[in-house]
Amino acid sequence: YTIEWDAASAQKSGYPSFMAKEIHEQAKAISDTLLGRLENNEIVLDEMHIDPSHLRSIDKIIVVACGTAANAGEVVKYAIEHWCRIPVEVELAHEFRYRDPIVHERTLVVAISQSGETMDTLMAVRYAKEQGAKVVAICNTRGATIPRESDAAIYLHVGPEIAVASTKAYLGQIAACYLLGLFLAQVRGNLYGDEIEAIMRDLEEIPGKIQDVLDNSGQVEKLAHDMVETTSVLFLGRHVGFPTALEGALKLKEIAYIHAEGFAAGELKHGPIALVEEGQPVFIVVPSPRGRDSLHAKVVSNIQEVRARGAHTLVIAEEGDTDVEPYADVVIRYPETRTLFAPLLTIIPLQIFACELATAKGLDVDQPRNLAKSVTVE
Ligand code: G6P
Repeated sequence: YTIEWDAASAQKSGYPSFMAKEIHEQAKAISDTLLGRLENNEIVLDEMHIDPSHLRSIDKIIVVACGTAANAGEVVKYAIEHWCRIPVEVELAHEFRYRDPIVHERTLVVAISQSGETMDTLMAVRYAKEQGAKVVAICNTRGATIPRESDAAIYLHVGPEIAVASTKAYLGQIAACYLLGLFLAQVRGNLYGDEIEAIMRDLEEIPGKIQDVLDNSGQVEKLAHDMVETTSVLFLGRHVGFPTALEGALKLKEIAYIHAEGFAAGELKHGPIALVEEGQPVFIVVPSPRGRDSLHAKVVSNIQEVRARGAHTLVIAEEGDTDVEPYADVVIRYPETRTLFAPLLTIIPLQIFACELATAKGLDVDQPRNLAKSVTVE
């Protein structure tokens, strides 16, 4: 008599895949990213070895990254520009080097890489350093090549990520870049201590809200099972909801092999709306109705536009947002938070949707075809 001992399934702690496990670890992961970073109303980043006077001289930030890390960069662009009033460009690392980019001593390059070993991102870091720029690495793997070659590092502390499709590292990258943005705003005098403290208090509430989203994932799991035959899904968002749409689409492509596209909702009428026909599933990421300007109303009218053309509308909306209800076939709720922090919540149903759908299709969720966790060739 022998006992079958499968180390891999033991490590998955009862989840069917590492990806499912990592999705469900995200509340803890983000609380670890944020742990100990605020002391006496000040952001403390112990591996930020760049002189404050140099950080005050920065006139442009360029984020370089690939894949999911690049989508994280697109999210934090909004926060860093808002808090620090420094222009932020986000560039795919493999495109960056080949277009003779304008990089100099007053450019701060932020390299986001879970593994810290992605060759495209590493080459962009080396190029930026040659041009005299300082580089901050946002990384999950201590001692990896990218943080070693950078001037400063902020580690995610989300624990090892095994599944090829990135989930908890994506949230960690966003949270770590928020810390960088707040740190820069502090050093440069854009925000005062009590403002930083108030923002950090809201950020520190995010892990509890992540847990709420995870505890209510049954609806999305069922949706994924109902949609197992789907061959095409569209994702729409505006502002920080736009990169969330891109990342939601990427997850579905990566692990469920479903054709998926993310669009800026305002771009719909300039082309993508031609794709919408009867029964086309469309996820729409809706910002808070309490948020900025007319953003919320604009997204609600985008839902109407696709619905009028027969779309099956899967709407991700804040709790209590009743405006979306007349146009939504399905409403998936997320807890209230600052507009800038919503991406840490709104992506979770999309991660779960992809993971459940791929699992329901019987696919190898953790090791999707043709992909590698860390791409160390150019
Ligand atoms: C690979 C992975 C992606 C990941 C990207 C960047 O393509 O399959 O999931 O987002 O690399 O990885 P990095 O380690 O640099 O964040």
